[in-house]
Amino acid sequence: MPFNPELCRNESEVESKLIVQYLLPQLGYTPDTWYQEVVLGSIRLDFLAFAAQVVPFVLDANSPLSVVMEAKHPKHNLNNHVSRLRHYLTTLNVRYGLLTNAKEIRIYEKVQYEIRLVFQCAGKEVETKLKEIQNLIGRESLQERQNINNLDIQISETKSRSETKRQNAMKTIAVYHNKGGVGKTTTVVNLAAAIRKKGKRVLLIDFDSQANTTFATGLVKFDDEEFDDIKDSNLLQVLQSEELYPISEVARKSNFCNPEIDVVPAHIDLMRNETDLNALDGSRLILIDKLEHVQEKYDIVLIDTPPSLNLYARIALITADYLIIPSDLKPFANQGLTNVKEFIKGVNTFRKQIRKPPIETLGVLACKISTNNQFVKHTLPKRLEAIPKRYNLQVMDTVIYDRDDLAKCAEKSLIVGDIEIADPVSIIDFKPDSMAAQEFELLAIEVLQKIGLTE
Ligand SMILES: Nc1ncnc2c1ncn2[C@@H]1O[C@H](COP(=O)(O)OP(=O)(O)OP(=O)(O)O)[C@@H](O)[C@H]1O
Ligand SMILES: [Mg+2]
Repeated sequence: MPFNPELCRNESEVESKLIVQYLLPQLGYTPDTWYQEVVLGSIRLDFLAFAAQVVPFVLDANSPLSVVMEAKHPKHNLNNHVSRLRHYLTTLNVRYGLLTNAKEIRIYEKVQYEIRLVFQCAGKEVETKLKEIQNLIGRESLQERQNINNLDIQISETKSRSETKRQNAMKTIAVYHNKGGVGKTTTVVNLAAAIRKKGKRVLLIDFDSQANTTFATGLVKFDDEEFDDIKDSNLLQVLQSEELYPISEVARKSNFCNPEIDVVPAHIDLMRNETDLNALDGSRLILIDKLEHVQEKYDIVLIDTPPSLNLYARIALITADYLIIPSDLKPFANQGLTNVKEFIKGVNTFRKQIRKPPIETLGVLACKISTNNQFVKHTLPKRLEAIPKRYNLQVMDTVIYDRDDLAKCAEKSLIVGDIEIADPVSIIDFKPDSMAAQEFELLAIEVLQKIGLTE
């Protein structure tokens, strides 16, 4: 019988009509292999289904591959329930979690202490996507995978080291739009924190002479230029000297997020040195070379860029493997996309000359988007659709909404004696359960997936 999400008007109908009557049987779970309202310590699961039938069940390191299913009210946004699902999966050592409000179905997979989104579809598409869902969490396919699991372990252990190394090679992502104030810096710093929380080693490079990322990561601890400890060791020196100022010396530890990340700071001096630097032929390649020396030290390098078409933006895009284009989707930012595309074209011509593949655009990232209900329902979808149609650019799945918390966490400060010192923190550390934190977590998942760095 086909499933119609419109029939689910509340949480219990999502449980009965979608999960009990439709999904569990379609996925091959007979009534003796799933349990409803399972209480395990302080955790209460809506559903727990097992690939192998085991009574009594023990959830330890050897627990059989199983699936937690959580049903939510059709009006609930699933983003608000992701961190709870992660808590369930990681605490109980369950590999898969299905989260649904009937309108949307998501499947997450536990990877160590994190979860990643591995499947997503609208409730009304469930029939056409059934095969995919079965392949992921169907009882038979989980059983098969368990059988070949032991074999897999052996194979992966003998996999050549070089292959593993290639898969895990450091990836560099630039966040760029020539329009100012669209959320580049906010995106870069919080995405860095979200990726760091997933266990990846992150280096952040500030390419903007306004040094907003340098401020936002709490590296500016002086309130008088006399004590400026950044002036003599920042991105400018990195780009000016081929031999001196390696990344390992210039990068500083920032504890604006926990665990900490490394940051190569910017300085206002970048501005007046742009012409000299432009005359220096090798300046465009120095960073590429210096990053090669820290290949083993970081998994991800994130670059914040200036709102301009200048030399620094150019070097950033020459260096990066991937590009994210934050945009508030308003007319000026949209019109600016034409400049961005032209700029990328020029950058790619140069990359070709140095035998570097073209930069890969991950997409336009909708940022600072109004949370007004009517806007989200009617205007936002139209604006998102317009990007590929008019500008032939992809749009990223995650949307970063306008959230007060994002400005608040960046403005935190400490009073030491009679001076106020900026003490910004990432949104993930400031309010881990906030909507903004969850949006950045989703963005981190999406980015890591798109660049093939999920494990
Ligand atoms: N999602 C958001 N919700 C609320 N405020 C935001 C959001 N994103 C950015 N802001 C605020 O908007 C302002 C501009 O953001 P941000 O500095 O990140 O943009 P930018 O593109 O880096 O700007 P510039 O081009 O000047 O470097 C900041 O005050 C920031 O706190
Ligand atoms: Mg900025």
